[in-house]
Amino acid sequence: MNLAVIGTGYVGLVSGVCFTLGGNHVICVDKDEEKIARLGQMKSPIYEPGIEALIEMNLKEGRLKFSSDLRESVRLSDIVILAVGTPSLPNGEADLQYIESAAADIGRAMEGYKIIMTKSTVPVGTNEKIRQIIAAHTGYPFDIVSAPEFLREGSAIQDTLHPDRVIIGLDNPALEPVMRELHQGFTENIVVTDIRSAEMIKYASNAFLATKISFINEIANICEKVGADVTEVAEGMGLDRRIGSSFLQAGIGYGGSCFPKDTKALIQIAGNVDYEFKLLKSVVEVNQGQRFMILAKLHESIGSLQGATIGIWGLAFKPNTDDVRESPAREIIEALVKEGAHVKVYDPIAADNFRKQYDHPLIHWCAVPEEAGTGSDAVCLLTDWAVFKDIDLHLLAAGMRKPILIDGRNVYSKEQIEGTGLEYYSVGRPR
Ligand code: UGA
Repeated sequence: MNLAVIGTGYVGLVSGVCFTLGGNHVICVDKDEEKIARLGQMKSPIYEPGIEALIEMNLKEGRLKFSSDLRESVRLSDIVILAVGTPSLPNGEADLQYIESAAADIGRAMEGYKIIMTKSTVPVGTNEKIRQIIAAHTGYPFDIVSAPEFLREGSAIQDTLHPDRVIIGLDNPALEPVMRELHQGFTENIVVTDIRSAEMIKYASNAFLATKISFINEIANICEKVGADVTEVAEGMGLDRRIGSSFLQAGIGYGGSCFPKDTKALIQIAGNVDYEFKLLKSVVEVNQGQRFMILAKLHESIGSLQGATIGIWGLAFKPNTDDVRESPAREIIEALVKEGAHVKVYDPIAADNFRKQYDHPLIHWCAVPEEAGTGSDAVCLLTDWAVFKDIDLHLLAAGMRKPILIDGRNVYSKEQIEGTGLEYYSVGRPR
């Protein structure tokens, strides 16, 4: 099949590249000509393990193209995949301006029947809107499919090629065999549903995963007070198959481009039909508070932060990505600076991205993790990058002004800390 993917962000680029592996011909389209030019030189705009090798292979084999010519790309394709961003508006609602303008562009470009498949995360009812917009710009027939994406940054290719399930929302049953063919080899678990339910499955899934995280974070906070160990609690809970062990890792809360945006959007979707989603509101509130547990632990261990030097390990919202969107690190560092602390920051990949968004004279950018500890009053681990697990903690403690380690992701075991001289704080585990 011939596919055009509109939008070369995470979802668009990864889906586009992965669909070529089924023998399809894919054109990835973006308005940003510079991005398209760089992609043509096999340079990925996102940090994602394995993506540049796949781009190179498929470009060379002629199955993948990059273009900023939407009209021509739509004309050459059987299926047009919408994968543009849906960021948050200030009130939490999803901003649909990119979806709406892409839909109008697609309508104007059509010169025959097309299947329009939405992969962007969009509020319930949006695919209906997309249908109306396209219909207002073309007389040619078309069908709409909602196929939400469940990939995670850092394991996006694996998640796309081997998903737990593929959700296909449609209202024309004739499309089902086409969609099954397109996803052949990905998974046997293809769930065909109506369009609105498919749109809801995406939000409900992200909201549920966010709920698991806030739940375990609250359990962790209670564990600290009653002397229990949240890692043991999570392990014991997770063995119950009805609960499951994933997304029960306590820490400083979730960030990224999806959970914060999608939880707020679902609260708005519910609010728009006069339903107050109380549980999800609490999930968001708990998540917002959780990052400040780091500050509370700093105050507990060193008192005033005025003039103190604090090392920070990790800026990305999670490991294996350079993405700093909604990363808890941002608010933590802002709070430290506000309290007059000197902050020595290290991240293996995400420092440049972070610095473009936020910098301050009190921040010192470190080249290696150990540097963030030298002469510091405390080091706070905010992202569980593998590199931090291998640090020589004896040397770290020896180089610090006060040997205090605040582990916001429960990376170290008791055995690793013992004998290092570090005063160690983690999340929901006994001290
Ligand atoms: C998330 C979902 O996992 C994907 O299924 C979905 O497709 C994607 O959003 C999206 O909507 O596009 P992603 O944001 O890449 O993927 O990252 P996750 O691996 O889910 O992690 C999200 C955040 O939760 C991170 O900040 C991570 O540190 C935190 N987390 C995760 C925890 O604090 N504890 C856990 O147990 C798991």
